Amino acid sequence: MAATSANSDRQLLSVAPMMDWTDVHYRQMARLISKHTWLYTEMVVDQTIIHNPNTDRFLWFPPEQRPIVCQLGGSDPAKLAEAAKIVARYGYDEINLNCGCPSDRVAGAGCFGASLMLQPDTVAECCSAMRQAVDSTITVKCRLGVDNVDSYEALCNFISVVSKGSGVSHFIMHARKCLLKGLSPHENRTIPPLRYEWVFALKRDFPHLEFSLNGGLDSCQQAAAALQHSVDGASIHGVMIGRSAYNHPWACLADADVAVFGAAENAAKSRREVLAKYVEYADAVVGRYGVKPDGSRMPNVRTVARPLLNLFVGEPSGRKWRHLLDVALLKKPATISEVVQEVIKCVPEHVLDAPPKPRAQPAFATAQLPPPICSLADGPASAEWARRGEVSAGGNYGKDCCTSGSAPSMQAAAAGQNGGAAEISANGVAGLDDTEWQPGGDQQYSPVTVLQSAGIGGENEERSEKRLKSERVMVGA
Ligand SMILES: Cc1cc2nc3c(=O)[nH]c(=O)nc-3n(C[C@H](O)[C@H](O)[C@H](O)COP(=O)(O)O)c2cc1C
Repeated sequence: MAATSANSDRQLLSVAPMMDWTDVHYRQMARLISKHTWLYTEMVVDQTIIHNPNTDRFLWFPPEQRPIVCQLGGSDPAKLAEAAKIVARYGYDEINLNCGCPSDRVAGAGCFGASLMLQPDTVAECCSAMRQAVDSTITVKCRLGVDNVDSYEALCNFISVVSKGSGVSHFIMHARKCLLKGLSPHENRTIPPLRYEWVFALKRDFPHLEFSLNGGLDSCQQAAAALQHSVDGASIHGVMIGRSAYNHPWACLADADVAVFGAAENAAKSRREVLAKYVEYADAVVGRYGVKPDGSRMPNVRTVARPLLNLFVGEPSGRKWRHLLDVALLKKPATISEVVQEVIKCVPEHVLDAPPKPRAQPAFATAQLPPPICSLADGPASAEWARRGEVSAGGNYGKDCCTSGSAPSMQAAAAGQNGGAAEISANGVAGLDDTEWQPGGDQQYSPVTVLQSAGIGGENEERSEKRLKSERVMVGA
């Protein structure tokens, strides 16, 4: 079934796929905050939706959440094609293949996620199979490299093989490499250095393809600055924001429609408006997937209320809001509206009614671009650099702070990876952290402790890991 685009907006800004975070409820809140920002689902493993009769649990979304992209995980072309057909029935605007998740549970068991970057031919086959199965646009989200296969040349090889072999033309680049062994998923999002310049170089070298930039960007204003940035005539297609959009949803997204998409006004006038609309959605959705034998509804009130915990992060009343919301949820209320009606009293009127704050665009800069790899790049710059004799010979650009070794093809190197934490530069630590949503580090009201005590998962990374494990158990992998 064809999925037509919800509107003509380009995917200038998107919220990243994040396991356990960007569930249907978070996305509903994000959609109330920004009308135009594209939303990604959490990764859904292909076999989970093929074998589970209750696909609604993983794939249903209210139509107003469009434009929306479903991210799939898998490495078998036939299974991914079958899963894509199920996804397409739900009306997603695009389907994205996860080639960037570094979890060894994903990467090790059945070779998907980031380890797929070591097998560009397989990625091409998977994407090609999905493209043949459905009319939806298929895209790829990946890293800059994996383990010691981390040269710009190897990255160009991946892009070239996948785009030529499958027709995929949009790549979402988490602009750092990852290590499959030696770093946890959390460390893999903070330790390897960000290299935005490689993403701009990809556009220079593959001008017919689109590249979105992801990693370490924390606001729609920063996204707007990155979108306006151009190096050697190359600019990016879009920006994807992950942690900041979850941890500070209002500060990050509330001005996105105006600042990024050029709309006349933003979707939400205030957080009071977001709350009122979210509560309406929330009370209607509790129990949508059924009732457990013990009588509890799926999803339950707590799960649906979870995205609200971060709505006032950064405000003096933000911690109190989280704490009181948590306490109220522990009392097992029947509806979310009754909880919100009570807890909202702790937030001052002027905060509730404050409009999205337009902020000045921060500066955005990139380091010098790597030279094109003339044998792989398709852009005019490649020929020009070759003429000037400045083309990189061995694709070793960037080796200084990542790993050592030459740049073998992805496939050849897959056999002998030896990437390790010790090889990573200490200055590579990026500014954003998954735990950064605790301004002031207040232990009493920190969302982590609040969520943990509520049993609704402030320890998100661990939960994501557990969830991945249980998904694999569910599909018998
Ligand atoms: C809790 C969590 C779960 C994530 N799950 C996924 C996932 O399912 N698929 C994926 O491609 N990336 C996943 N990521 C990575 C993000 O999509 C994103 O690439 C990364 O966080 C870097 O962007 P940021 O610096 O804006 O957060 C996850 C990140 C976090 C923090």
